[in-house]
Amino acid sequence: MRATAVAHPNVALIKYWGKSDTEKNLPATGSLSVTLGGLHTRTTIEFNEQLKQDQLLLDGKADAAADLRMVRCLDELRQHAGVSLFANVESANDFPTGAGLASSASGFAALTVAGAAALGLSLPPQELVRISRLGSGSAPRSLFAGGVWLDIASSPGETICSTVSEPARWPLEVIVAVTSVEKKAVSSTAGMESSRAASPYFDGWVSSHPQDLADGLSCFTDKDFMRLADLAEHNCLKMHALAMSTRPPLLYWSPATLACMQAVMQLRADGVPVFFTVDAGPQLKAVCLPEASATVRERLQSIPGVLQTLDCTLGQGAWVEPVAKA
Ligand code: DP6
Repeated sequence: MRATAVAHPNVALIKYWGKSDTEKNLPATGSLSVTLGGLHTRTTIEFNEQLKQDQLLLDGKADAAADLRMVRCLDELRQHAGVSLFANVESANDFPTGAGLASSASGFAALTVAGAAALGLSLPPQELVRISRLGSGSAPRSLFAGGVWLDIASSPGETICSTVSEPARWPLEVIVAVTSVEKKAVSSTAGMESSRAASPYFDGWVSSHPQDLADGLSCFTDKDFMRLADLAEHNCLKMHALAMSTRPPLLYWSPATLACMQAVMQLRADGVPVFFTVDAGPQLKAVCLPEASATVRERLQSIPGVLQTLDCTLGQGAWVEPVAKA
């Protein structure tokens, strides 16, 4: 009744921001991401009859906000297995938690995969998608490798997630410029709800999104880097324009985030195949072709306020760690 799973975080190039159903945690937009090999969440779950409630330690500390959503995922797994045992969950990230590096995505992907394994369940992939999505709308994407599409359109009221491009087919690289390791003031969950309720731009975001997604998918089909670059930066800035136009405003960038954006735009204007994306936090992710990674890393490291850079290649979907033989 114990298992460990590992998941990589992911970064969306065409983003999810806003829900159509908060109860089912259904995204109002589909999304297209890449799975970030090189960064890991490792989660161990043990179901135990001695426990009186579910317990979570995240990076060694109790986390009340993650707790409620975790119990929701665990309840679904318990229902599948027909058990009522509580679980002890220990999760650790090897990158800053809650600072816009998609730790909730890798966290809920690893939780779902570890929980199913600990209960001896062999669930269909789209059921793992549904359960992990109850934890976080970006989590299903961390169940899959490479370029990943979360589709909200083809099955109303549900989400379907799949790899659209294996890592080796188009080996993009992502260099993360960390500009702060502080936990963000407003979570994605709270931020996107207030954008829906209190930005005049929300409807425009949702109505213009299907075209961005269709174009993003076709960039992957054609491996068209420069078209993807323009599109992903547009979609990212559109999401941040929506966030900034929310009342009260959501401004996730630091001065160094903006300096990194401008540096990446200048590099691309100089012919370097790179573009940026930024999630609900101050870190910048520079997506590049492998031949550009040394130039991009060096440029980002030279920017005042960049604390460190993290190198990622495209990674695998979440997996169960084999049990070491005694
Ligand atoms: C900006 O998946 O963290 O990273 O479903 O409420 O847990 P919840 O939100 P979450 O939001 C991710 C927002 C984003 C964009 C993206 O990853 O698509």
